[in-house]
Amino acid sequence: MRKKIVAGNWKMNLNLQEGLALANELKAALAADKPNCDVVICTPFIHLAKVADVVAGTVIGLGAENCADKEKGAFTGEVSAAQVKSTGAQYVILGHSERRAYYGETAEILKEKVNLALANGLKVIFCIGEVLEEREAGKQNEVVGSQLADSLFDLTEEQLANIILAYEPVWAIGTGKTATAEQAEDMHAFIRGVIAGRFGEAAAESISILYGGSCKPSNAKEIFSKPDVDGGLIGGAALKCADFKGIIDAWK
Ligand code: PGA
Repeated sequence: MRKKIVAGNWKMNLNLQEGLALANELKAALAADKPNCDVVICTPFIHLAKVADVVAGTVIGLGAENCADKEKGAFTGEVSAAQVKSTGAQYVILGHSERRAYYGETAEILKEKVNLALANGLKVIFCIGEVLEEREAGKQNEVVGSQLADSLFDLTEEQLANIILAYEPVWAIGTGKTATAEQAEDMHAFIRGVIAGRFGEAAAESISILYGGSCKPSNAKEIFSKPDVDGGLIGGAALKCADFKGIIDAWK
């Protein structure tokens, strides 16, 4: 059985005190009412070590939002996968559309990052998704298929077991426009087929594929009810405990 997961992506929001307050609030909420899925919060680098102390021994997993494409050394301002791991984090988001679009992260760079993250014992939440023009041109499958092939097809089946996919149509991120549950299911089924083609049916059946893009408590249940949707990667709605908890509760 593949894992059901709700992961939050805080992006560049919340100072350290605000982040710790949110982590503590979520910890209390989930201690009082156990989730029916895995829960992960992905925070800015500066929050990781302190949030790790808050969530230690709870059901809440912790991840970074990025890591460097180099192992170590003179790369001022970068944070390596080993450094992320040393905070107590277990996950890292890679390939988010904001990293691809604003920081020029190519498929080649992402391949390096994925390899380093896995080599350092992190699980990778790997994001894929088309922009609006690509969807309007009917090219979404082609685009997503290439994103998978270009960064992940050199992995072994063993390595793939530590990858979680997140389908995030770029036109739905932070826009309030959610993909319909049918659009999400169509793409998730396509993605599972691509994984089956390269890694085999068993790998495809066991990989979790999350949906991301304006997911909120009011639409999560319908989206998560689709057979190939295994949870969500949540941006804006992860910044308020009640909203994030509302999405987690969609699995109940
Ligand atoms: P959103 O962001 O939920 O604010 O649309 C999702 C994401 O970018 O991971």
